Amino acid sequence: MCGIFGCILKTGKAAPIIHEGLKKLEYRGYDSVGFATIDSGALHVRKDAGRIDEVVERLEMEKMPGSLGIGHTRWATHGAPEMVNAHPHMDCEGRVAVIHNGVIENFMELKEELLQKGHNFTSRTDTEIIAHLIEEEMKEDVEMGEAILRALRNLEGSYALGIVSSTDPERIYVARNESPIVLGVSEHGTFCASDVPALLPYTNQVVYLRSGEFAVMDEDGFQIKNIQDGTSVVRELQEITWTLEMAEKQGYPHFMLKEIYEQPVSLRNALRLQQRYIDLLSAFMDRGRELFLMAAGTSYYACIAASYMFSRLSRLSTYPVIASEFIDQYGSSLGIDSVVVAVSQSGETYDTLQAIEHARMRAATVLGVTNTVFSTLSRRARAYISQQSGPEIGVAATKTFTSQLMVLAQLALRLARTKGKISQDEVDELDAKMQEIPDVVEEVLKRHGESIKDLVDKYAGEKLFVFLGRGISSATALEGRLKLLELTYIPSLAYPAGESKHGPISVIEDGVPVVFVCPRGNSRQNIVGSIMEMKARGARIISICEEGDKNIIELSDDVVEMPVGIPELLSPIPYIVPLQLFAYHLAVKKGLDPDMPRNLAKSVTVP
Ligand code: F6R
Repeated sequence: MCGIFGCILKTGKAAPIIHEGLKKLEYRGYDSVGFATIDSGALHVRKDAGRIDEVVERLEMEKMPGSLGIGHTRWATHGAPEMVNAHPHMDCEGRVAVIHNGVIENFMELKEELLQKGHNFTSRTDTEIIAHLIEEEMKEDVEMGEAILRALRNLEGSYALGIVSSTDPERIYVARNESPIVLGVSEHGTFCASDVPALLPYTNQVVYLRSGEFAVMDEDGFQIKNIQDGTSVVRELQEITWTLEMAEKQGYPHFMLKEIYEQPVSLRNALRLQQRYIDLLSAFMDRGRELFLMAAGTSYYACIAASYMFSRLSRLSTYPVIASEFIDQYGSSLGIDSVVVAVSQSGETYDTLQAIEHARMRAATVLGVTNTVFSTLSRRARAYISQQSGPEIGVAATKTFTSQLMVLAQLALRLARTKGKISQDEVDELDAKMQEIPDVVEEVLKRHGESIKDLVDKYAGEKLFVFLGRGISSATALEGRLKLLELTYIPSLAYPAGESKHGPISVIEDGVPVVFVCPRGNSRQNIVGSIMEMKARGARIISICEEGDKNIIELSDDVVEMPVGIPELLSPIPYIVPLQLFAYHLAVKKGLDPDMPRNLAKSVTVP
């Protein structure tokens, strides 16, 4: 996730406005910043790694000339957070400057073709190819807008783009495929931004560009076109009535709810990971004698789920370990043959970092899965994958959990392919199902986003909840419990269902709500027995199960029905969503702030 801002003013300098606009988008990324402005037909670019205010001051960017310009604040995905990788990116001649939010999937192929045509690249980003593609089209002697449209038709992946050129110094071009971009107009000029809060100080008259659209901005307004066929699109301006605070949450009352609803997009981004990173990490994993999946909190539950994936798909036994226990539990036996995959949204969790330092000292291979490309984990790991969820502001992890699972599932599938322990057909089928998961999550949000509140109303007064699941769903149950516990402070237990009769069942008495996570699959039959055990002791059963699963539905007091056909191994991704919503709405109902649960911090950097 990155932030984009652009403006064409009737009078005055664009650079200070771009600075102000990017500050409102800093939540979208903050590892490097850059502006491109145009003055008297000349293109000016300044950029560097660092936080917005620091870079803008150091490079005196507010002094950049011109009433037209674009700016970018970056959240690194391809290429380290360094000056060369900061946006804008330019073509060979330095005539075109491009800023981008998103991921271009086919950039390696396009880069290869452009290299063969003699283009020089200065960065390791996917974005830079766009400037060169436009340069290539400009050789055909077409108008700037047409050259850009032609270039865009080569791109696969997600993008929100801002493009300026010294050959067309009065306009800004923008385009969208999935990643958001909003246009705004006022009597002072025309604006574009990744998000409404950046526009609100200048105008509340906006148009949301839709996926597959392109717009040409000038100082009097903009024209929208369809990227594929170039036809014009007419769209009325919309008046935004949100306050700035509401706009920062895109109209959602809390960041957590916004982040829950962002999951279809963040999952699509996680699926766009470059295969070479998946290949690299899986190759390291394959070499180890023993493989640890190490993390804290929610990330640890992602590791538990992943251990089922690695075992079933790649026939690899892995040990999920709690970071704070890792040194005591395995520290003495680690060696050169050990591989430790550290999973951490922030990449800064103290316990996780302590554990990886210990592992490094014992010559183990440390790999990382993180959402923060410039974190300590990514610097200390031998290789890492960026899960590309964008910043998560709500303290409780939501979209980063599902994206971690998506990354780990891709690693497990990659290893399944290389190790060949399950049939190619099975791998292909699961891969196809994995590609559908973002749509499934979208469907779950549509079905249960509102209706989950009825369940919340019914159970709001409860003093204890129990969460149970079998197989991989025990990880979903654990994470569902953690969400409820940390947001509502209601004491709750979670166990693999088979374990419940070894102790936890003693808390069950008349009316205690027990949440069963029971997708269809291998573990489905055993869960029926567990439900009966609980029912016999008076528990009220809430089941998250597949739509039309008659046995489960008949045994349950309440049911959250999930779309049909989700493979059990991928089920934690969609099945956690109703539990995230349940915890969120229950916290709100109790008058608690779900974004800032008491005693918790987003990143636990202390022992
Ligand atoms: C729970 C939550 C925490 C984190 C844990 C690890 O909602 O957010 O349990 O998962 O503190 O954090 P990272 O993944 O940053 O290492």
